[in-house]
Amino acid sequence: MFEARFSDQIDRLMDRDNDAWETHDRAVAMKNNGEDVILLCVGDPDFRTPEPIIDNAVSHLRVGRTHYSPALGEMKLRRAVADLETATSPHPCTPAEVAVYPGATNALYSVMNCLLNAGDEVVIPEPMYVGYPSIMAAIDAKVVAVPLRVEEDFKLDMEAMKAAVTGRTRVVFINTPGNPTGSIISRKELAELAEFCRERNLWLVCDEVYSMFTYSGLHRSLRASAQNLDNVVMVDGLSKSHAMSGWRIGWVVGPETLIERLGAHAGATLFGCPQFIQDASAFALENDQEYVAQMRQEYAERAEYVVRKLEKLEGIHCHQPRAGMFVMCDVDGTGMDGREFARALLDAELVSVVPGDAFGPSARNCVRVGLAQPRPMLKQACKRIKRFIEALPARS
Ligand SMILES: Cc1ncc(COP(=O)(O)O)c(C=O)c1O
Repeated sequence: MFEARFSDQIDRLMDRDNDAWETHDRAVAMKNNGEDVILLCVGDPDFRTPEPIIDNAVSHLRVGRTHYSPALGEMKLRRAVADLETATSPHPCTPAEVAVYPGATNALYSVMNCLLNAGDEVVIPEPMYVGYPSIMAAIDAKVVAVPLRVEEDFKLDMEAMKAAVTGRTRVVFINTPGNPTGSIISRKELAELAEFCRERNLWLVCDEVYSMFTYSGLHRSLRASAQNLDNVVMVDGLSKSHAMSGWRIGWVVGPETLIERLGAHAGATLFGCPQFIQDASAFALENDQEYVAQMRQEYAERAEYVVRKLEKLEGIHCHQPRAGMFVMCDVDGTGMDGREFARALLDAELVSVVPGDAFGPSARNCVRVGLAQPRPMLKQACKRIKRFIEALPARS
């Protein structure tokens, strides 16, 4: 009998508890079975990638941009990212501070590989994006979660963040605008955290994949807020902002010392992203004002609509998102926690939302409602949720 073992790393990943996705998995299976399920659990934009970007990729395919590319990315795309950074921050940025990846997930994984050893601690506010614990499990880094309070609209708790740092901490990892909460970390808080981390010789990594979907006012990035950039690393990408999730393009902006190491790491893992996709991505960043603005406006209106409709329902309180593609709803007042609510809603009305505990225990009484569905579908979903709430037994 063949008895060779798999690595501890992959065993750790396989062992992760995925209970919180049970409702989602069931909803997808029901949908695939032809049931009339409305999926509000996904973070994949419902918009088509804008046509000019598709045309650009096709034209580059046709002229033979189908070969290997540099491990850190095509210069054209690195420059487009650097130019975007320079335009949105007081600190000029050069392509030497940029590395390109097949998506923000891979960018984050690569960054963490370069910053962390097994057993090192990473301080992360919670609720957090579901992808983070898996990345840390793969590296065998320890997540030190700092709970944010639903009653305080999931505002960053600066004192708790600082208090969570120990001698084993190497990275503080934040996400603004945040998934699942749609909260924004202020410029002042970003600057304070960056300075605190710098004094403690800690890296501060910020995931900013919703940077282009702030509903009012422009995104304020970590890089734009920090005074010194030696310890500051930012990750962003095109999945959300340009409805390009399947093209897999993300990037890192960080100090050259880190980018050099990311280059060595990418040489051993990726060996570059497809040329024609990088060409079209550079084009996307340089020619995007109109369609990004349209999508941003549409998400803002959808969020406003969903909050308005759900807020009227007994037992539900919506956290007002300031950005992104989701609305977090506190369902404590219905007498159910997020998991019970999500399960019962799917059973009764065929609407699928994500239980808050998928993002961490402090959101256990919440559900995340996704906005990546066209307006008529959201309208239908809100009607079903209303019917679901009205059918609940009256609570004293
Ligand atoms: C906060 C956050 N970071 C990263 C990602 C993944 O981005 P990408 O598609 O670029 O890997 C997501 C996707 O949902 C996300 O919400």
